[in-house]
Amino acid sequence: MLYKKLLLASAIFICTASFAQEKTIVSSPSNDIKMTFWVDAAGAPMYSVAYKNNPVILPSEMGFKLKETSTDKKLPDADKNFKVIRTTNSSVSNSWKPVWGDVKEIKDNYNQLVVNLVQQNDKALQLTIVFKVFDDGIGFRYEFPEQPNLKHFIVSAEKTTFHLTGNHKAFWIPGDYDSNEFNPNTTNLSDVDASSSVYTSEISAKTFFDTNAVQTPLMLKTKEGLYINIHEAALVNYPAMNLHIDKASYNLLATLVPDALNNMAYLQTPAKTAWRTIVISDKATDILASHLILNLNEPSVIKDPSWIKPTKFVGVWWEMHIGKGTWDLSGTQDGAQKTGIKKPHSANTANVKRYIDFAAKNGIGGVLVEGWNTGWEDWFGVQKENVFDFVTPYPDFDVKELHRYAASKNVKMIMHHETSASVTNYERQMDTAYRFMKANGYDAVKTGYVGHIIPRGEHHDGQWMVNHYVRVAQKTASYKIMLDAHEPVRPTGLQRTYPNWLACEAARGMEFNAWSKGNNPDHETIFPFTRFMGGPMDYTPGIFELKMSHWDPAKTEIIHTTLAKQLALYVTICSPIQMAADLPESYEKRMDAFQFIKDVAVDWDDSKYLEAEPGDYITVARKAKGSNNWFVGAITDENARNTSITLNFLDANKKYNAIIYADADDADWKNNPQPYKISKQVVDSQTILNLKLAPGGGCAISLMPVKL
Ligand code: NOJ
Ligand code: CA
Repeated sequence: MLYKKLLLASAIFICTASFAQEKTIVSSPSNDIKMTFWVDAAGAPMYSVAYKNNPVILPSEMGFKLKETSTDKKLPDADKNFKVIRTTNSSVSNSWKPVWGDVKEIKDNYNQLVVNLVQQNDKALQLTIVFKVFDDGIGFRYEFPEQPNLKHFIVSAEKTTFHLTGNHKAFWIPGDYDSNEFNPNTTNLSDVDASSSVYTSEISAKTFFDTNAVQTPLMLKTKEGLYINIHEAALVNYPAMNLHIDKASYNLLATLVPDALNNMAYLQTPAKTAWRTIVISDKATDILASHLILNLNEPSVIKDPSWIKPTKFVGVWWEMHIGKGTWDLSGTQDGAQKTGIKKPHSANTANVKRYIDFAAKNGIGGVLVEGWNTGWEDWFGVQKENVFDFVTPYPDFDVKELHRYAASKNVKMIMHHETSASVTNYERQMDTAYRFMKANGYDAVKTGYVGHIIPRGEHHDGQWMVNHYVRVAQKTASYKIMLDAHEPVRPTGLQRTYPNWLACEAARGMEFNAWSKGNNPDHETIFPFTRFMGGPMDYTPGIFELKMSHWDPAKTEIIHTTLAKQLALYVTICSPIQMAADLPESYEKRMDAFQFIKDVAVDWDDSKYLEAEPGDYITVARKAKGSNNWFVGAITDENARNTSITLNFLDANKKYNAIIYADADDADWKNNPQPYKISKQVVDSQTILNLKLAPGGGCAISLMPVKL
């Protein structure tokens, strides 16, 4: 009843001498989540969150430290001395259809509180905080409205905190300004040690800043079994947020990525921050099913999205990562410096045609080619500004002929723009590069930002770069080009607004298995709870040759999964672009297993998250877009796992041909990763399937209606 009254109320408070004012509570539509807002005795904006009447976020501070832009002088602290002058409640119950994604329709149902605050000093700074309380969590953002005493200003710190109730189990990567390509760690918060990142030698540009800092999305689990995910949504014109852990109190403090001058953000009123998000449930599967972050993003700006086409692709790519060929024409890079052995240039016309042929024969829509343009002889690690021009091919890469050849086979070429993090150079070339793409039949680009950013001193995750990534999404959209960004800031749901922005890397992808100690067997069971909360990843699954010694006897690196798990990843990872990342010859030896990659969809009408535990296992069923075909992916960590799933998501009136791609009985990721067994049976919605997953293994199932 109280909740109802508050919901309807739009109250104007009258200022009195004491700061503390009455608390405002907003409940989720289901009433399970309650967010409380108030200002304390010092006039600090405060919030707390409860789930099913138990605290999740204890009283936590909000606000900023600000400076003037012209003088660099401190403005009065914007985290105290506030009075609430108005609170406004409202409710929304809507739904919308994403251009692509894990479901065809998304419910957007929340109760909102807008709080207008004014500071009680001569600057009378105005600040607005907007809270949205959903059934799966909360989001809040700050707005700086137009006001007499604040126009251009610098955010020197954000004071938002997330005061947790205890020493939760955390799935974390180290806080960093430049990279998110770390192996995830699983420890209690008290045992976080981000300084370990300093020893991660295989990452080309990383900037450690705090032993007690982690990145978001941060996945937490309490001793009572509650799952909490902290991240952000709609990161635009603002730096990314890391979280500093106070290990005495388990209070997490927003820690923004600075610019070259150690300022966090330059804003002009009216201005908004990104949303801070807290997804909460007592079921791990609900975290995976959450669309809260997408709901907090703006609707699509692309009115006619018919040119945006989710696709599978192959590429002249893995062969360079495994050292079979090189990006540079002279063949003297990529390990050849050490061995003195010159390797062939992979992006040559004949080799690219081989991939086009393979794609055409197997219904794979795209072919990515890296190393096609001049510059790879001297691109890496030297902070050189002018490296690539994105229009000059190496002489053995015949752009026109490949355009003709790919088009004749109905295959789309995918462009590669490695910027070598020289973003000033890329900004100068973007229009020319995109015109060149369109003229030569490319309508998708994979960008890359390897190295330290130019402008020098900027960071991958700072405000300047955040704006760059958005600019690229906007500009590619204006050319009807789809985008896959590697080494960008971690995604925050902007794919809703720019659905041509199909995927990002922004995490430790498959490639690390090819040339480093690799990704742990639990890697892919953690990602859906962390990195993927913000959006799809171009993870590049589908590796069939799992020991790198296959390519070079001197190599000891391995993929940390079985082959069957590589297939299951096409379902447990939801992305509108999925690479079949291995070489055609690896697939041609095992076309029975490759059949799953041929069949599996990349865009979905529905997804059922059947069972999940971060770091341990995930089983997902998805229904292909516009089709009655279902696909199931089940993966486990380093432990073998037996599970049974009921196929009750299937249409009750239909029979389905199930093809089950399972680990062979003696498979395991470390010693015997390749053996798989394929079985077929007719199933229906009553069928219970028993799945046996090897250590580091998985199971993939296709379910297609029996044709009568
Ligand atoms: C790193 C990217 O993640 C990878 O996919 C790419 O091949 C290299 N950079 C070269 O651009
Ligand atoms: Ca585990």
